[in-house]
Amino acid sequence: MVDYRHNRRYHGDSKRPRVALRVKAARKTDNSRFMILGSALLIAASALIYASNSKAAGSAVELETPLIDQGNQRSLQRGAQAFVNNCLGCHSADYNRYSRIAQDLGLSEEDVENNLIFTTDDAGEPTKVGSLVSNNMTKDYGRQSFGVVPPNLSLTARSRGTDWIYTFLKSFYVDPSIGTTGVNNLVYPGTAMPHVLWQKQGWQTPVYGEEAHGARPITALELSDPGSLSAEEYDDLIADITNFMAYMADPIKQTRHRVGIIVMLFLFGLLAIAYLLKKEYWKDVT
Ligand code: HEC
Repeated sequence: MVDYRHNRRYHGDSKRPRVALRVKAARKTDNSRFMILGSALLIAASALIYASNSKAAGSAVELETPLIDQGNQRSLQRGAQAFVNNCLGCHSADYNRYSRIAQDLGLSEEDVENNLIFTTDDAGEPTKVGSLVSNNMTKDYGRQSFGVVPPNLSLTARSRGTDWIYTFLKSFYVDPSIGTTGVNNLVYPGTAMPHVLWQKQGWQTPVYGEEAHGARPITALELSDPGSLSAEEYDDLIADITNFMAYMADPIKQTRHRVGIIVMLFLFGLLAIAYLLKKEYWKDVT
């Protein structure tokens, strides 16, 4: 009987040095490939960090960063309530549905119907929980009253950034030169939006610095007539509203992060298996 096993080993042995050489060469390119991939990832990561930091650029005022967390359902619930009570009168947010908000914020549909929906549909019936978060103000009415139609706020947390929104809601001050609303805003000078939260925050007046270039710059805002909330409570309120607006602009964020972690764990598991498999395959060669 011919011993094939022996034969094979014999041939295998004669090829050994060449194979080993090839393996070494392959290893080398593998390493450099890793390095290229690594540096590409690094560059992408730094570009991302840079982009998210510079997102709110363009405003003359230093923006404040609110401590918000889209995983905090209580904060989102408070924000949703404040939003429908104070903002939905003028602004629409109709890329979102009430039913989806109920689901994401851990509320029952009855809760939402009773506490978050104050609008009616075209037939005058209370808005249904499956409807979009729209308001009842017509565009013409908006233009007539404010000169501009109050914009849809569904995606503002993305276009302006959350720091911008938070600081905007904090920076209204009394300015008699603005005939229509009587207020101006440090972040958005000349804005057509009235200070709708004045009962809560109160009125702020500007503190002027030294005259420079023929004008006296505003250096700070002073709370000259306090509202129903303390400064900290007001900051919490607008942080909740900002958080809710961040949620509306990216409702899937929490799910995405959860799925992302599962995918990464799966890939690491797969990496381990692939590595062991590779070791097994090349065991006899090197
Ligand atoms: C009385 C009507 C009215 C109410 C109520 C109101 N706004 Fe406004 N808002 C406006 C108008 C008008 C503008 C447009 C301002 C401009 O472009 O000059 C505006 C603009 C904004 C902007 C800037 C959007 C952009 O990208 O330019 C934000 C953010 C905003 N509002 C947030 C809010 C929030 C949050 C609330 C609730 C706390 C609220 N608004 C309540 C009328 C209103």
